[in-house]
Amino acid sequence: MAEWTTYFEGSNPPEKYVENRTRIKEFVSRHSKEGRRLVLVTSGGTRVPLESRTVRFIDNFSVGTRGSVSAENFLAQGYAVIFLHRLNSLEPFTRHFSRVNFLDLLSLTITADGSTGVQVDPQHTSKLVRVMERYQQVKETDTLLSVSFLSLSDYLYLLRAAAEAFSHIGPAAMLYLAAAVSDFYIPHNELPEHKIQSANGPLQITMQMTPKMLSPLVKEWAPQAFTVSFKLETDTSILIIKAKQALQKYSHQVVIANILETRKMTVTIVTRDEEEVVLMSDSELDTGMEIEEKIITDLVRRHQKFCQGS
Ligand code: PMT
Repeated sequence: MAEWTTYFEGSNPPEKYVENRTRIKEFVSRHSKEGRRLVLVTSGGTRVPLESRTVRFIDNFSVGTRGSVSAENFLAQGYAVIFLHRLNSLEPFTRHFSRVNFLDLLSLTITADGSTGVQVDPQHTSKLVRVMERYQQVKETDTLLSVSFLSLSDYLYLLRAAAEAFSHIGPAAMLYLAAAVSDFYIPHNELPEHKIQSANGPLQITMQMTPKMLSPLVKEWAPQAFTVSFKLETDTSILIIKAKQALQKYSHQVVIANILETRKMTVTIVTRDEEEVVLMSDSELDTGMEIEEKIITDLVRRHQKFCQGS
């Protein structure tokens, strides 16, 4: 039996799984009928529990900047977006105000008759209007479906559900796998039920390897889709080699290679035939431009070509 089948057999689907799977299927079918391209954007880190009634868990650094900015850019390019994100990580549109106390965006007003109200503080109005205009348009076209996960297994169940929904629309679907997925986990039947007791002394745990889900994703769940995975490393000398190895191993279309510390300044878009370095200049960064704008413009062009060739 394939490793990934064993993984799903040994873990439980997340809460509201059937409901979310239905929402995803309906979203895909509606937008595909309306002739839109669709993209699944995965975003944020995955939590790996150490106890089944979880007090402690292992997590990672990802806050969902890449995924949430990319989702906005895909929407701007006319895609319908399924945004599969880690609960409480950054989300499209609201991310612009994530570091601000929302009460500071507002100010109290008192009219002549003494009644009080609230208005947007003038110094925030223009930014709020810019974001609201884009958000409003997305709401009107209903082109953004947000689905959240918390643990590694929640993520993998929902990833499979979305990929399977995409299998019905062939090359018009893109998978953009920016989530930082844990490579290690403890199988459900090996988790202690209760909080691990410190009185038992130092903790030693053995974790299993998470099966690489790119394999069934490309071969079985959504074989006709345009698939973009990411490769994250901290050692520059192995980055491109690993990206190329991933392309060879899984036979998908693109790997975006990035280094932890410089990921907002530069990435390399790696395909079977080329390596394209995407670089942000200081002046672009100063104007608030984000690297995802360049990445998505490039991918949309490649996806277009892919659809024409299929
Ligand atoms: O969220 P930010 O703070 O903005 O950070 C963005 C990012 C650095 C997380 C993002 O740009 C990124 O690189 N995401 C992928 C990180 C990662 O998991 O890399 P990896 O080399 O461990 O995995 C490579 C690919 O295999 C990933 O696309 C992943 O979806 C896939 N994978 C991973 C594990 C697994 N068991 N199965 C998989 O299919």
